[in-house]
Amino acid sequence: MAFSENKIDVLKKIKASKSFEDLEKLRLYYLGKKGLIPEALKGLGSLSIEEKKSKGQELNIIKKEFEEGIKNQRTEIENIEISNRINLESIDVTLPPNISEKGKIHPISQTIFNIIEIFGNLNYAVETGPDIETDFNNFTALNIPEHHPAREMQDTFYVQDNGDKNVLRTHTSPVQVRTMLNTKPPIKIIVPGRTYRSDSDATHAPMFHQVEGLVIDTSSTMVDLKSTLVSFLEEFFEVKNLQYRFRPSYFPFTEPSAEMDVAYTKVNNKIKIGEGDKWLEILGCGMVNPIVLDNCNIDSKQYQGFAFGMGIERLSMLKYGITDLRSFFDPNYRWLDHYGFSILDNQTRSGL
Ligand code: DAH
Repeated sequence: MAFSENKIDVLKKIKASKSFEDLEKLRLYYLGKKGLIPEALKGLGSLSIEEKKSKGQELNIIKKEFEEGIKNQRTEIENIEISNRINLESIDVTLPPNISEKGKIHPISQTIFNIIEIFGNLNYAVETGPDIETDFNNFTALNIPEHHPAREMQDTFYVQDNGDKNVLRTHTSPVQVRTMLNTKPPIKIIVPGRTYRSDSDATHAPMFHQVEGLVIDTSSTMVDLKSTLVSFLEEFFEVKNLQYRFRPSYFPFTEPSAEMDVAYTKVNNKIKIGEGDKWLEILGCGMVNPIVLDNCNIDSKQYQGFAFGMGIERLSMLKYGITDLRSFFDPNYRWLDHYGFSILDNQTRSGL
């Protein structure tokens, strides 16, 4: 059987097909096993060698052109279908917001937003670091010696790897090291983030949150540290004339070191921060130990500064009257509905 159609007409038909089905029909009709072209090729058997050669070549060229045409048209149809779908699925950006009543911001996130906002107004930048830290950043650079109890297995999650000793960071302090190694003073940062310790009871969770603060320049002193922390806490707890005390303490990375307590009373079994005859430990702080500065390639003869660290769960519990630490990590919607915050109440977007 000879192929007698005008190939231009066939190519036009291919170009005109609007769906994959139509295209497939054409393909089968012309190129399928029993299609016109293969049939015509089979029919060449009875011709002379010369004719076989020239007709065969001609048919093979037509076959290639049809195949090419079908392939191109398939891409064409695909593109049309995609753009149709995009048009159908397009979003009307002028529609009013449809904010679900159900979604709530977790009190930990809310507390972090709040802390960032307050320190942001004091010109602190936000830094972050990875949850998996090197032993150097988490301990050594911070002047925590080899035999220090904080390094013990029962407190620290060690992460197995090829040779390097890594840990799940036990505090946000290693971000001090990262920042000092990467930036020249002046440095003024806070570091909110997740931290890990091998500990779990009503007041300890294996994963918890801290916020670290670090200021390095040529003149900051303990007085600046004190006024910074007092104004932060007054604003955070929304109290004026916060009663507080600094107790001498010990941290390997600060010298001198202190812990800060705030006064509180219990009203109707609820803790009220600001005044009273009881004290609550709220944070650790101190002047950055010159050894740490030197470990981070910062000249301790020229630069000095202060650091502080506090637990975010604790701040959150005290501010919002949450009594059990474990409830933060329960996937309990009723709890979140009660303690969570509406998206609309939030002005601060930290992206954390
Ligand atoms: N890293 C300490 C901890 O996890 C908290 C801390 C205390 C941080 C004093 C500091 C500091 O920066 O100066 O218990």
